[in-house]
Amino acid sequence: MSRVLIPFPDLQPLALEVGSRLQARVAPVGWRRFPDGESLLTLDARLNAVDVVLVAGLRNVDSVALALRFVAETARDLGARSVGLVAPYLPYMRQDTRFHPGEAISAPIFARFLEQSVDWLVTVDPHLHRNPRLDGLFSIPTRHVAAAAAMAAWVQANVPDAILIGPDSESAQWVGDIAARAQVPFQVLAKIREGDRSVRVSLPDPVAARGRTPVVVDDIVSSGHTMIETLKHLATLGLPPATCLVTHAVFSEDAYERLLAAGARRVVSTDTIPHPACNAIAMAPALAVACEALLAGRTPSLAAP
Ligand code: R5P
Repeated sequence: MSRVLIPFPDLQPLALEVGSRLQARVAPVGWRRFPDGESLLTLDARLNAVDVVLVAGLRNVDSVALALRFVAETARDLGARSVGLVAPYLPYMRQDTRFHPGEAISAPIFARFLEQSVDWLVTVDPHLHRNPRLDGLFSIPTRHVAAAAAMAAWVQANVPDAILIGPDSESAQWVGDIAARAQVPFQVLAKIREGDRSVRVSLPDPVAARGRTPVVVDDIVSSGHTMIETLKHLATLGLPPATCLVTHAVFSEDAYERLLAAGARRVVSTDTIPHPACNAIAMAPALAVACEALLAGRTPSLAAP
């Protein structure tokens, strides 16, 4: 078999499903921590002339990045002809400018780190804001898998009377796409700045939302602040409790519990970041299709002449 899938520990079910769809041999990586905290990575040595697909959850990227680099370099060292990466959640994309003097602009630096490690990249809905396209950030082949079709199917099956609500103008791109596919209406909250430290959000047309079930859609929930402010506002309008629908369930600290405490009817996410309660939308099928496209081009290894 000329394809080998190497799953990192934290995304096993998704990785195994991608591996099965790619008809790849699955070769788990041994990862041992020495008492001093350094890692020893051990790969299946039978990688000569194969196409390697790494599948890694990068939710806790600072603790995984170096291991990822070690594994990619070692695969190449063992003879792999190409090494690709499936990172369903691409971190550091929100730090795409210098918000305060002296800050690192992490997005392009992290992109360079990845492209120095692997030959191609597949990810789900990266947070593209000031860098509007993935291929403007990366010089290696990339595929941006959109979660919109799978999220729309979930809405149609579970909340057919939904009105989708985007918490800010940035969300308009994916909320509008999901709403069109699910054939339900949508609105995007307007932000009204009342002072340096005070922002009020408002639903543009509350009357049109009456009689429908609100579903708040965002690409990332991290602290939960954006969703919680939205939930609070919808409650003041007398709308029924909203479902929160999110692509990447980053959930810093107790964000998930705070969403429920703020009145969310339910929190639903894709499985790009594992979460025991809210992963309801599987991305492996779409990820496997994207990998097939890149493997068909059989990108040569970085080490090849
Ligand atoms: C912002 O640009 C993103 O689309 C999300 O709205 C944001 O990252 C959510 O962050 P938090 O949950 O910390 O408010």
